[in-house]
Amino acid sequence: MDEKYFRIVDDLVEKGWSVCEQFFPDDYLRELAAEARQSWDSGDFREAGVGRGGELQVRPEIRSDFVTWLDPENLTPLQKTYWNTLDELRAHINRELFLGLRSFEGHFAVYPAGSFYKKHLDQFRATKHRLISCLLYLNFDWQETDGGQLRIYEQSESEETFQDIIPMAGTFACFRSEMIFHEVLPAAKERFSLTGWLRKEDAGF
Ligand code: OGA
Ligand code: MN
Repeated sequence: MDEKYFRIVDDLVEKGWSVCEQFFPDDYLRELAAEARQSWDSGDFREAGVGRGGELQVRPEIRSDFVTWLDPENLTPLQKTYWNTLDELRAHINRELFLGLRSFEGHFAVYPAGSFYKKHLDQFRATKHRLISCLLYLNFDWQETDGGQLRIYEQSESEETFQDIIPMAGTFACFRSEMIFHEVLPAAKERFSLTGWLRKEDAGF
């Protein structure tokens, strides 16, 4: 079993979040990034909402990104590779932590220049099935001055601190959806990612 899965599990237990750079080989990331860009260029993305199902609302003052969901029945070969990797991670987390994770759901996301996602938790009232949030970034040549960092908030003693993660291609971040507050700082240029959640049940929201 891949060593990085063990580190992820240790991190999730110790602090509730984990970041791993170069999670996939460069060739794969370039192809996946190209696929996401092609889908963006052909107009597949929609404004992202807040909440779920009947409660889903577009709230551009809270988040201003665009998303396109991956269809588990119609994955491209590149998406299938990601899906399989997340399934291995899911099985590993279940073996170690008995979380009873059952499935994965995910979407590509684009943050056009100037967009952001204000501080939030990924478990809303209507999305209690999400246990582990998973992010794979797809941006080559991203500089700190390009913004768009994932800011992860941590509670230590009485004060709140944070860590900023640069959305560099190949960086994989995951965290406990019900406990880790996070935000996306305004991006200075188009920012691509594949965002998803390991869930405790298969269907129904
Ligand atoms: C989200 C989210 C973080 C990121 O989509 O819920 O918090 O870094 N994304 O894209
Ligand atoms: Mn989130």
